[in-house]
Amino acid sequence: STFEHIIVESKGAVGVIRLNRPKMLNALSFAVFREIAAAVGDLEADDGIGCILITGNEKAFAAGADVKEMQPKGFIDMVNEDFKASGGDRVATCRKPTIAAVSGYALGGGCELAMMCDIIIASDTAKFGQPEITLGTIPGIGGSQRLTRAVGKAKAMDLCLTGRMMDAAEAERSGLVSRIVPADKLMDEAMAAAEKIASMSRPVAAMAKSAVNRAFETTLSEGINVERDLFRSTFALDDRAEGMAAFVEKRKPNNKHR
Ligand code: HXC
Repeated sequence: STFEHIIVESKGAVGVIRLNRPKMLNALSFAVFREIAAAVGDLEADDGIGCILITGNEKAFAAGADVKEMQPKGFIDMVNEDFKASGGDRVATCRKPTIAAVSGYALGGGCELAMMCDIIIASDTAKFGQPEITLGTIPGIGGSQRLTRAVGKAKAMDLCLTGRMMDAAEAERSGLVSRIVPADKLMDEAMAAAEKIASMSRPVAAMAKSAVNRAFETTLSEGINVERDLFRSTFALDDRAEGMAAFVEKRKPNNKHR
């Protein structure tokens, strides 16, 4: 499909979604959210794709929801079409692994979009924040919940109540991002991680992702039960047999399901 605000490319087994509204720092209009949702759906359905990478440009991952579009809206408008209705959280329900490669601003809805991904890889220029309060509103597509789970109450409150930004180092220290890389290496490093993930057994990657995600939805003992069931299930897969045989035979595994 063709898109107006994003560029979607398949690079080998990695599907890349690049936000492409550079003059507006990739502000996320309803149309952008709808396009991201459609692209994620396409890539999820594509058997050739094993990992999805979402990125912006050097200056901005995304500086938030499109404030100019939101400005004239009233309560009833947001009831009739809110961000969730536009598929704004589609990334969070993707079964394939997702990576956000963040350079520059990831603010408001941009930070929320990054947090929907399984992994955030940040350039040393990245800046994260939930500045909605400075506009008289609050996060609207998961920010108050995902940020709190990622960095804890103290820092989430600090960011959501003051609207300040945190830099890449603070974001890594507080557990929001998994790695920081120099800005000019961001795409190489993120692509390498995505390719690595895409080379794994697809069903096993989906199970690993699903197991980690349970930690945010249930109790420790139930999460551990789910993990044990999924762990056992891997023993029904030929990729598990191949992975262990390859180790024993000192060779690289040749996964069937990827
Ligand atoms: C619409 C935006 C925008 C946004 C930037 N622009 N962010 N337009 N929505 N979120 C536009 C500017 O108006 C400007 O357009 C152009 O992009 C360049 O931005 P500048 O402000 O000139 O750049 P700079 O001085 O470098 O400042 C960068 C910035 C600032 C600090 C990131 O742009 C900023 O504060 N942006 C808004 C950040 C924000 O509040 N985000 C939260 C949005 S609310 P013109 O035409 O003037 O050149 C939100 C709610 C989420 O996300 C709800 C659920 C999704």
